[in-house]
Amino acid sequence: MTMIPSKTLTNGVEMPYLGLGVYKMTEPEVALQAMVKALEVGYRAIDTAALYNNETEVGEAIRQSNVAREEIFVTTKVWNTDQGYDETLRAFETSLKKLGLEYVDLYLTHWPVEGKFVDTYRAIERLYEEKLIRVPGVSNHHIHHLEKVFAKANVKPMVNQVELQPYLAQEELRAFCKENDIAVTAWSPLGQGRVLEDAVITDIAQQLGKSTAQVILRWHYQNDVITIPKSVTPSRIEQNMQIFDFELSAEQMEKMNQLNKNQRFGSDPDNFDF
Ligand code: A2P
Repeated sequence: MTMIPSKTLTNGVEMPYLGLGVYKMTEPEVALQAMVKALEVGYRAIDTAALYNNETEVGEAIRQSNVAREEIFVTTKVWNTDQGYDETLRAFETSLKKLGLEYVDLYLTHWPVEGKFVDTYRAIERLYEEKLIRVPGVSNHHIHHLEKVFAKANVKPMVNQVELQPYLAQEELRAFCKENDIAVTAWSPLGQGRVLEDAVITDIAQQLGKSTAQVILRWHYQNDVITIPKSVTPSRIEQNMQIFDFELSAEQMEKMNQLNKNQRFGSDPDNFDF
């Protein structure tokens, strides 16, 4: 079975470089089947959120699997309407109950809600101090959001999960996160499936005898980016983790890096309304 390598976070916790993203898996049976399959073939990380309405299935999949809880890295996130200090603590309790777990590996502010995200992070920090989470983090934070969080935090976020795909390479944010020991996770690493037909990527995939999805996921990995590709299709779930036995050359990496056009498929954290 393929072993997925881990990134050592700034507090020493090991976070797998690749996990199953479960956004839009709202059909309980479909979600459960995808998660069970992923754990069966060797995934050791699942990325959910209160918003996704499938935390119950995440817990269920873990219990149905033959994998020990400690070997699985579970991420969940506090939704926008639950932000603020006390509200976040309450939202966390609800998530924990739905998951049926005793702790969460990584807890994130889902979006930087103006006027609230700093307090939200302070609550996440408290959950970390209380050892209810192993890693405190944020999602969809631009540099200026991170700077506001740093100004009030005792412990800096250790992960920032953002939209990152070949057409949105996030170079400046990645460099800033590296300087500050923040690991970067890409959500929609495959651009929601919308970059899979790209001619440059297709060409590289043909040279390597791999799929375009595998080439993109490998590009992320070689850029030191953690990914959480979403799929409900068993063959794709398996295919997406087979990226640790080949390499993109420096030239192929450069070609991939040049695809950036700062194009978002999701919302801009400076301008979201939900
Ligand atoms: P499906 O879930 O039907 O298998 P992202 O993680 O960037 O949001 O991309 C998710 C989308 O990409 C989903 O529509 C998923 O479809 C599709 N997808 C995931 N893995 C692959 C793959 N290996 N090949 C083709 N499409 C994929």
